[in-house]
Amino acid sequence: MAYENILVETHGKVGVIVLNRPKALNALSKGLTRELAQALDSFEANDDIGAIVLTGSEKAFAAGADIKEMASKSYMDVYMEDFITVDWERASTCRKPVIAAVSGYALGGGCELAMMCDFILAAENAKFGQPEITIGTMPGAGGSQRLTRFVGKSKAMEMCLTGRMMDAAEAERAGLVSRVVPVDDLKDEAIKTASKIADLSLPVVMMTKEAVNRAFETTLGEGLRFERRLFHSTFATEDQKEGMAAFVEKRQPDFKNK
Ligand code: CAA
Repeated sequence: MAYENILVETHGKVGVIVLNRPKALNALSKGLTRELAQALDSFEANDDIGAIVLTGSEKAFAAGADIKEMASKSYMDVYMEDFITVDWERASTCRKPVIAAVSGYALGGGCELAMMCDFILAAENAKFGQPEITIGTMPGAGGSQRLTRFVGKSKAMEMCLTGRMMDAAEAERAGLVSRVVPVDDLKDEAIKTASKIADLSLPVVMMTKEAVNRAFETTLGEGLRFERRLFHSTFATEDQKEGMAAFVEKRQPDFKNK
């Protein structure tokens, strides 16, 4: 499939999507988000892919929704098209793991897109922010909700109310990103991490992802019951038998469903 706003690569069992509108710092235009959703659909449907990396350029993961495209929209326009829903949310509905590898700016919708992924690896130059308020609007793709869950009320409120950016070190301290790596290592490190996941049992990886995500959506009691049922169901997979047998026999597991 020919894309205009993204690049798509495969590295073994890892699918890589590179946001590629360098002149607009990867602003998330309608065209870009459509292609992103199509690429995610395609990797999701591809049995040879076990994990996905979403990244941008060194200067920008994405500097937000495309301001030039949305500036003149009316209330009726955004309401009727349910602006920033379908294609944007595809990253959060993907059942295979999606790692955001963020270098440079992840602002507004860019920060929100990164937070829709399963975890964020950040380069040392990464900058996260929700600056919508400085252009007379507010987060519209989950920023006020997901950022608050990641970093707590005080920091999220300050960032959403002032538009202040958080650097990579602060983002790691606050729990927004899982790790910070040198800029030049970011893509390789993300692919290496994704490969490690893709070598594991895909159904068990998917169940684990579902369980962790449930922690964002329910009470502790319900989440624990959900986790327990999924844990039990791993015992119905041949990969659980293989994984535990391999441990006992002191050899590497050969998972069948990866
Ligand atoms: N939309 C459209 N174009 C954008 C853009 C955006 N979000 N961000 C940057 N660009 C464009 C600029 O207009 C500029 O284009 P031209 O060369 O044609 O003028 C080009 O990208 C380079 O940008 P700058 O010259 O501004 O680069 P800089 O290095 O001086 O500054 C920046 C970088 C601080 C990221 C600055 O570009 C900026 O503040 N961008 C906007 C950030 C923002 O407000 N994002 C939130 C958008 S609203 C949103 O996302 C809503 C939501 O919740 C979904």
